[in-house]
Amino acid sequence: AAGSLILAVETSCDETAVAVVRDGREILANVIGSQIDIHRQFGGVVPEIASRQHVESITLIARQAVREAGIALQDVSAVAVTQGPGLVGALLVGIVAAKSLALALDVPLIGTHHIAGHIYANRLVEELSYPALALVVSGGHTELVVLEREGRFHIIGRTRDDAVGEAYDKVARALECPYPGGPHVDALAAGSADEIVLPRAWLEPDAYDFSFSGLKSAVLAQLNQARMKRQPIDREALAAGFQASVIDVLVTKAMRAAREYDVRQLLLCGGVAANKGLRAALGERCREAGLPLVVPPLVLCTDNAAMIGAAAHLKWQRGEFTPLDMKADPQLPL
Ligand code: KG4
Ligand code: ZN
Repeated sequence: AAGSLILAVETSCDETAVAVVRDGREILANVIGSQIDIHRQFGGVVPEIASRQHVESITLIARQAVREAGIALQDVSAVAVTQGPGLVGALLVGIVAAKSLALALDVPLIGTHHIAGHIYANRLVEELSYPALALVVSGGHTELVVLEREGRFHIIGRTRDDAVGEAYDKVARALECPYPGGPHVDALAAGSADEIVLPRAWLEPDAYDFSFSGLKSAVLAQLNQARMKRQPIDREALAAGFQASVIDVLVTKAMRAAREYDVRQLLLCGGVAANKGLRAALGERCREAGLPLVVPPLVLCTDNAAMIGAAAHLKWQRGEFTPLDMKADPQLPL
């Protein structure tokens, strides 16, 4: 197939993002308008405000991406957009923008799965070899996904309650850190010499599923107990205990799955892949096991549109285009 120049749009949550990606590998522009400062005052993402903010920003961000890429709009070969999962009102803004562009430029539209995007962010870093195992850890998802071959996903484990990023954000709030709390808990944990040991949710012996709500409750119980006894609490040691439990479970299950499915690469992805402790622990275990680990740079871990362009390129190669009457799907299956 001829080369592709994909204009990609991502608005599934609180980042308004547009990127230009050549041949699924080369990022010409990756513009991200973050709404974090707006949502922080509410302690989390307010869906209605996110949608309105996307409406305000999307065209300006798109123009900036095209300018930074140094391309002419006529050279774009397809427009990609996150179809789901995500907040429906937020998704709709990106979808309408992408449909308008595809219609005006008379090029194909490519609806893309948000998690496929997170996984294929790794294609922007390295050539993938199959079978591969992806550990997807974000604000909305915690999944172990076996990639049997390109475009073929097999989910072998998922969270039964909170997503890992969600647990981070809830624990952060209890520790009085600003939203989004993941990076703050990470920093607190890194600065601690002590660790308050907390339980690990292993579930059934052969389970690849996860559970983080019990751990979150254990953190809240520690805080409540200290409050009732009017004792000071070591926030750093509590953050360290929480993070150690999360990392232990994630890394142990990922390594077991990597062995069972005999994969050639482990791909770490999603916003929580920015976690320094997790990156270090997984790096060490993969080195010991002789398993190649691919981890995107921080800007490609959290939500962005370059990853959507990377995922869409594979559909472009297969000629898999999306009709213009495509609908946002907040529960889109992988
Ligand atoms: O992938 P993402 O940007 O959005 C979703 O698709 O959910 O992930 C955002 C999540 C938030 O929960 C945020 O707290 C978490 O990623 N996060 C982190 C770190 N950086 C971001 N969690 C732990 N440690 C970090 N360093
Ligand atoms: Zn995401």
